[in-house]
Amino acid sequence: MSWKIRKGEHRDIEAIAGFQVAMAWETEEYALGKETVLAGVTAVMDDPSKGHYWLAETDQGVIASLLTLPEWSEWRNGQVWWIHSVYVVPQARKQGVFRSLYQHLQQVVRDEPSYRGLRLYVEKTNHAAQKVYRSLGMNDEHYALFEWMPYD
Ligand SMILES: CC(C)(COP(=O)(O)OP(=O)(O)OC[C@H]1O[C@@H](n2cnc3c(N)ncnc32)[C@H](O)[C@@H]1OP(=O)(O)O)[C@@H](O)C(=O)NCCC(=O)NCCS
Repeated sequence: MSWKIRKGEHRDIEAIAGFQVAMAWETEEYALGKETVLAGVTAVMDDPSKGHYWLAETDQGVIASLLTLPEWSEWRNGQVWWIHSVYVVPQARKQGVFRSLYQHLQQVVRDEPSYRGLRLYVEKTNHAAQKVYRSLGMNDEHYALFEWMPYD
């Protein structure tokens, strides 16, 4: 299987939203509202300062997507990119698709001195994804994540 990596565009909104609904169900058995997700993905496409989607695509269509969101780091006087919403379609897994997306982002960060690194968080129970991230050289030694989500 061969694929190329590109930024997401408005024409990809439906595919990306579908991936998110599938991912939430697969990883958390959480039934996301499709209309809300469609609006959320559209908001990013309409305002690139919010972030960017990155896709892997074969001749047959889009097979993976993720979202990068900027975080300002005053310690580093630059941007750290959060990786969110990682999803590879089941039939394309374990063939290096996520690795290639990740390595693409690493190159983007290396090429722009004001970009300082990549971060993500992952469900404690998603051991498969944690193995993937460790195998790519990410570490989880520094932070635990806390949150307050009053409207979930
Ligand atoms: C996690 C996920 C993104 C990995 O994508 P992928 O394209 O299959 O990963 P890759 O093929 O690029 O694999 C990268 C590395 O992780 C390893 N790996 C992949 N899937 C793995 C698994 N299920 N368990 C253990 N290791 C795994 C690969 O062997 C590879 O390591 P190597 O290069 O040392 O051999 C994909 O399985 C997925 O979409 N899962 C469902 C959604 C999800 O969990 N998203 C993450 C939410 S935080």
